Amino acid sequence: MNGAALDVACGTGDFAFDVARKPNVEHVVGLDFVPEMLTLAKGKAARQGLGAHTTFAVGDAHALPFVDDSFVCVTVGFGVRNFIDVPRALSEMARVVQPGGRVVVLEIVRMEGRGPHNRLCRGAFKGSRRCLARRWQGTARHTRTCRSPLTSS
Ligand SMILES: C[S@@+](CC[C@H](N)C(=O)[O-])C[C@H]1O[C@@H](n2cnc3c(N)ncnc32)[C@H](O)[C@@H]1O
Repeated sequence: MNGAALDVACGTGDFAFDVARKPNVEHVVGLDFVPEMLTLAKGKAARQGLGAHTTFAVGDAHALPFVDDSFVCVTVGFGVRNFIDVPRALSEMARVVQPGGRVVVLEIVRMEGRGPHNRLCRGAFKGSRRCLARRWQGTARHTRTCRSPLTSS
């Protein structure tokens, strides 16, 4: 499917810019309810040569200012954590995406429970954290170890 995409809670636009670089995406609308974020996003879009492929709109994820079936794809990156009514925001995203289009949510969530799948995920997360720390130690003079809020031990 070719057409326009919507990036909800776009902040300063980084996720929207990744979407704009996809070959089947003709245009990306970035939406956020903080106008200052959008001012920064516009500047970044211009500097990255994406000014013609992106527009930015002030709006609330819970009441998207678009008619039904407007976009081939709707994304939200690290925005769902801020929504006060997640089902409503998700249903708004589903409303404005065309039939057959995609709604994509990127979010980090806390793994609840002690089941084998959760233990595996927590182990993998710890491993990747150690790996990243080793890499940083190679490049940074001063490093600090932080306990992740995502893991319980
Ligand atoms: C952590 S930032 C993520 C920015 C961007 N998606 C990224 O990945 O770089 C979260 C953004 O969500 C926006 N936001 C939070 N609640 C919102 C809402 N109800 N409607 C629109 N934007 C919202 C905030 O203003 C903020 O810019």
